[in-house]
Amino acid sequence: MSRGYLISFEGLDGAGKTTQIDLLVRWFKEQSLPYKRTREPGGTSLGIEIRNLLFNRSDITLTPLAEAFLFQADRAQHFATLILPLLAQGTHVITDRCFDSSIAYQGAARGVGEALVERLSLIATQDYQPDLTLLLDLDPANVGIRTDITRNPGSQREHQSRFDTESEQFQLSLRTAFMELAHKYPARIKVIDASLTPEQVHQHIVRFVSELLYKE
Ligand code: TYD
Repeated sequence: MSRGYLISFEGLDGAGKTTQIDLLVRWFKEQSLPYKRTREPGGTSLGIEIRNLLFNRSDITLTPLAEAFLFQADRAQHFATLILPLLAQGTHVITDRCFDSSIAYQGAARGVGEALVERLSLIATQDYQPDLTLLLDLDPANVGIRTDITRNPGSQREHQSRFDTESEQFQLSLRTAFMELAHKYPARIKVIDASLTPEQVHQHIVRFVSELLYKE
């Protein structure tokens, strides 16, 4: 039996990852391919607890380094107990985010250092890297507009005025970090213009995934 492939989705919040993962999952079903959909953080029982600590405990102020380690703890459990066993039994794994998010968010944007976070990530994954990473790239200025249009058509202007510079700066450093990673690992990370229509983005994704699955 051949081993499964690990496919990760990355990008800024609001780049359309969820929609694209839904479409890819439908494609896997149509192709009768064995797959598991998961996410980071929160792909295991421990991960759900860590996710809660990270996002729902406003009473705890995490240092950037502590935050970085929590994401790595989630990842270590995720790889050891779910991802690696599934790949070994021939199931493909589609994950909503993986360690490129840690490198961009904690390493670059929160200042922990990209090289350090990359090292920690490879310890957490037991040196395993995604076989394919689909990076949905969007100009941060469009992320807010896009999200806002979905929620409340016609309200772009109001949203833009609320788009404060600090968070825009954060989004810009994330985008730069993701693009640098794509430049560093061109064979693994494929950049897709997320301002295309969902169907167009999906077609690009299917092309990259087919190249991976049927490369022999
Ligand atoms: P989530 O609700 O899953 O949103 P999204 O749809 O954007 O993935 O939240 C995950 C958040 O956690 C997201 O803002 C990115 C962040 N994150 C990190 O900061 N570091 C990481 O290693 C991972 C995996 C996610």
